[in-house]
This record gives sequence, C-alpha cells and structure tokens, in this order.
Amino acid sequence: MTQHLAAPAAPTTGTHTGWWRDAVIYQVYPRSFADGNGDGMGDLEGVRSRLPYLKELGVDAVWLSPFYASPQADAGYDVADYRAIDPMFGTLHDADAMIREAHALGLRIIVDLVPNHCSDRHDWFRQALREGSGSRLRERFHFRPGKGENGELPPNDWESIFGGPAWTRVADGEWYLHLFAPEQPDFNWEHPAVQDEFRSILRFWLDLGADGFRVDVAHGLVKAPGLPDIGAKDQLKLLGNDVMPFFDQDGVHEIYRSWRRILDEYEGERVLVAEAWTPTVERTARYVRPDEMHQAFNFQYLTADWDAASLREVIDGSLAAMRPVGAPTTWVLSNHDVTRHVTRFANPAGLGTQLREQGDPELGLRRARAATLLMLALPGSAYVYQGEELGLPDVTDLPDEVRQDPSFFRAAGQDGFRDGCRVPIPWSGTEAPYGFGTGGSWLPQPASWAGLSVAAQTGDPDSTLELYRAALRLRRAHPELGAGDAVEWLDAPEGVLAFRRGGFVCTANTTGTPVRIPAPGTVLLASTPPTDGTLAADSTVWWQV
Ligand code: GLC
Repeated sequence: MTQHLAAPAAPTTGTHTGWWRDAVIYQVYPRSFADGNGDGMGDLEGVRSRLPYLKELGVDAVWLSPFYASPQADAGYDVADYRAIDPMFGTLHDADAMIREAHALGLRIIVDLVPNHCSDRHDWFRQALREGSGSRLRERFHFRPGKGENGELPPNDWESIFGGPAWTRVADGEWYLHLFAPEQPDFNWEHPAVQDEFRSILRFWLDLGADGFRVDVAHGLVKAPGLPDIGAKDQLKLLGNDVMPFFDQDGVHEIYRSWRRILDEYEGERVLVAEAWTPTVERTARYVRPDEMHQAFNFQYLTADWDAASLREVIDGSLAAMRPVGAPTTWVLSNHDVTRHVTRFANPAGLGTQLREQGDPELGLRRARAATLLMLALPGSAYVYQGEELGLPDVTDLPDEVRQDPSFFRAAGQDGFRDGCRVPIPWSGTEAPYGFGTGGSWLPQPASWAGLSVAAQTGDPDSTLELYRAALRLRRAHPELGAGDAVEWLDAPEGVLAFRRGGFVCTANTTGTPVRIPAPGTVLLASTPPTDGTLAADSTVWWQV
C-alpha cells in the first residue's frame, strides 16, 4: 500500500471495516451553515467552529458542498480551480484545519467533486476560448460548429437541466456544450488530459486527508458518441424515465473503476458517493458494483410520498437492487437541490420536489419527524441535510430580488426554487441572523426561526433536535438498527409499516388517523408517543422487544 497521508489518518473510532455501510452522513452547505468572519456568508472557519455540535448530534461523517475557487454562478458547482478554496470560504489552511479537527473528533470529511463541468473561468476553458476554433485545448470540452446555413443553430437539440438550449455560441461562431448553466462548460471525458487531471485532483484531496468524495452529476460525464439528437422537446420530463444520450451512459463506469483503484491505495477506507439520477434503482446499483463507488444516493426514496405502500415498495426495491452488488442502501429525505421535506410532506402528495407553498406546516413537521425515525431504522447509510434536525421548513416566500439560484433566472428550469432550502440555519438568539454570524445572512431568514434555533431546541425533550440526538445515540448504541441488508416485515394494518431490526421493532403509521395495534414491546423512542396501544397519526415508534 502506498503511503500518502499528509494529514492525520481518518478517525480511529469506529474503524470497523466498511464504516460507510451504516454511516449517518450530515450534509453541510457551506454558505449557509455558519459564518466565521461576519460577512454574511458561511465559511470553513464557521464549519470548523461547529464541528463539536455535529459530533454531539451523533453523525459519523460530514459531506460539504463545494467550497473551491468559483465565480459562484451555480453556488460553487462551477469550479474555477479544483485545488484552491474560494476566498469567500477561506483558505487551504482553513480546509486543512477543518479536516484535522474533524478527525480529532472522530468525524470523517467527504468533499464534493464536480467532474462533469467546470466554470467558464477555469484556465482551460479561458485558454480554449482565446485560442479559437481548431485549438487542441477545445478538445477538452465539447466545442462544435452550429447547424443551419451560417451555423446559427445549436449542434443538437439537447436542453439544459436549468432550462434553454444546452449550447452557447462563442464569438468566433463555435458552440460549446453545457448541461447546466452556460457558465458551466462540460468536460470531454474522452480526452486523456481530463482523465489525468481528475485523478490528480483526487490525490490532492486524499493527500489532504479527505475521507471521500460525493461525485456531482456522476451519471453525466460520458456522452453518447456523435452527440445524437433526442428528437423531443421538454426533455426534463424524460429525465426520470429514459436513458438520455448525456446521462447514465455505460462509459461512466470505467472512470469510477479507475478512481476506486486510487482510493484503495490510501489508508482509512476512503469512499466515493454517486450523485446519479437514474431512471431506476437497478441502474443506480451499477454505480456501486464492488470495484466502483461505495454508495449512491437513493433519489427514489427522496421522492417517495409519505404513504405506507409507496414507502414499502421503494424500501424493498432499493434493498433488492443493492443486494446483488453488495453495496449498502442509502436513504435521504432532503438536500440542497430540493424542497425541505417538512414542506414537501406539508403539501399534497405527487407535487414533486420544487414546491412554492407552505401547505400545512404542522402536518409537515409531524410527518417529517416520523419519516426520520423510519429512515434511521432502515439498514444502510442515511443522509441528513443541515437544518433538517431543527425541523426547518423550506422558505417559500423569498422575494425574487434576493434569489440566486441560476435556474430561477433561466425560465423552465426544473430547480428554480432551490434557494428556499439554502437559507442560513439558526443557531441562537431571537433575531436574524440567529447566531449564524455577526454580519447578517446572504438570504433572509424568517422571523419564525427564532423558536427553531439550536439553542431554543437544546434540552427540550419534545424538540426535533433532541429527537435526532436521541435517535442517533440509540443507533450508535445499537448498531443492529443500521446493519444488514434486509428488513423483516411484520403484519400491520393498512397504512402502517412494521418491521423488526434485531431486538427492535419499528412501526410507522403513515395515515392521518390513530391506529390501534398490539404493543410490540416497550417504547424506546417515538416521533409522537403512542397512547394506550394506539399509534398516533403520522408517527413512527421504535420499540424494544
Ligand atoms: C448537482 C448539484 C446541483 C448543481 C448541479 C450542477 O445536481 O447537486 O446543486 O446545480 O449538480 O453542478
């Protein structure tokens, strides 16, 4: 084994092999977590200073969304330099300090890697533009002449995920491909220089001590040969159902195999996590075959309604899909791209993940707490998005002038309302910015968040924060809650899920009415306590049997 470690090795607590198999991983969205220098924008110093909070919360690892040098056209998912920290987030020294301190606390750090595209300010792209048509540097991206008499039409009919054509024309008449914003040109992954560069970037962060990578748009790197037309409009609607010529192409897997070989050279079980939106869990399972990545996000679970039958179907389907490849299933309810699940569950089912209405917030919170206990009793690894432990709702009434999500400005984009889940989280105090920092917050926080701050909830046994703390404590004390790859279902009335996990039983009443069941044991933890053998509406209970 090659010895590469510059920073202290990954934590020694919980070093059972496969730590990631049942890990609870907390997503930090750096701009909105904690502001260390008072400029209204979260930063790495803010993250470092709050690591003890995360340790106490009881998570195993922290995944940070990008903090690299970036013009922030897509909140850092447009990277200009993969080896530098954006000054608004701090310095490499801060990153190093954060990683070391996390390790000292026994927390692992997963960084975000954005390999599908870079920023239009990345050196390679700037040079490619400067050198003009025919330049070898353009081969590292997808430059093409246009169609039409004077090349005035895009080279093919692909649409950007953020709305509008996936091509932008440059001054000399050529077009370049960007699956996302025009400021995010797609790399050409057929090019050896691109492949070499990313292998080197992986090593850079592994050498700095990163415990793994969340791989952004992992399904997008390879495009179908010849970049064929799709032949349909409104392509976003096809995304969930069809294999597109720019997503989930077989060629991506060879890339991850080569990355896995690099990670395996390092000590400490470093991991790769795929953000791969594929049509089915079976397609997702291909990313986590034994010689590829370790985990993939389970977006089928994230988009499931709060309904016993749908949940059971997705739970069974996810476990069955992962079992043959031996990878753990993952579970996730929220992230920085979708409406927070409190608000999703507060609205009628089937409206998708970009909501603009508060719905019934009390109902949403009740279901969200229940959904969390359900998720944390399932075998595999679970993701928690910052602020969900506070029961934060989405902010659905941000004025247009404060919005920053690029897809909001590109009509028809699927994700136009992502700012609502990115509002800086409340830590303490009765007025904004609620301890987020000393210099305001880059998006305005609602007045109602005073009662939802970490300080306001700490010590209140009925609070959502204490529910998360208790659940994570129990999960640590009883590893069987997250272990294995199967769920033993028990008979239950309609609308109720009941299953055994080692010495525990979990019941989830997804109906809006109380349901009587014979108590399976003594109550260990409940999102809403049962009374006299009756499960409360929209509640999950962990029972010791
Ligand atoms: C991923 C990120 C999202 C970003 C997009 C483009 O889906 O999660 O925030 O806008 O990729 O990088």
